Amino acid sequence: MPEQIPAADLPPGTVRRAGDWAVGNRDGEYFAVSRRCRHQLADLSEGSVDADGCLVCPWHQARYDVRSGRMVQGPRGFLGWHGPTPGYTQFVRAYARVLRLRVRRALRRGDAVVVE
Ligand code: FES
Repeated sequence: MPEQIPAADLPPGTVRRAGDWAVGNRDGEYFAVSRRCRHQLADLSEGSVDADGCLVCPWHQARYDVRSGRMVQGPRGFLGWHGPTPGYTQFVRAYARVLRLRVRRALRRGDAVVVE
C-alpha cells in the first residue's frame, strides 16, 4: 500500500505527513522528502513552504531544496535558542550538503497524492 494523503489536505504552500515522508505542495508541484531535519531531527512534515519553494524546518528554519534534498540555508539557532549563530549555521549547512534528505516523487492520482 503506497503512502498517500488526500489532495484536498494539501493546498499550495502546505506540508503534511505521509508515513515516513513530508509531502508538500510547491505551487501545484508535489514533493516528498524524508521527515527528519538534518539539524536536530525536527519533523519536517510540520514545516512550511516559503516564497522560493523551499521547505522550511519548523524548529530553527533551516531551508531545503525539495528537488535535491540539500539544505540551502542552515539553522537559525539550536536547542531552545532562536537567533543568529555565526559559524555554527555554516557548519551545519556544510554537513547537510553531504547528508541530504531522501527524495521521492509525489504524484497526484485521482483524489490522492501518492509517494512513489
Ligand atoms: S531541527 Fe531543523 S533547523 Fe533545527
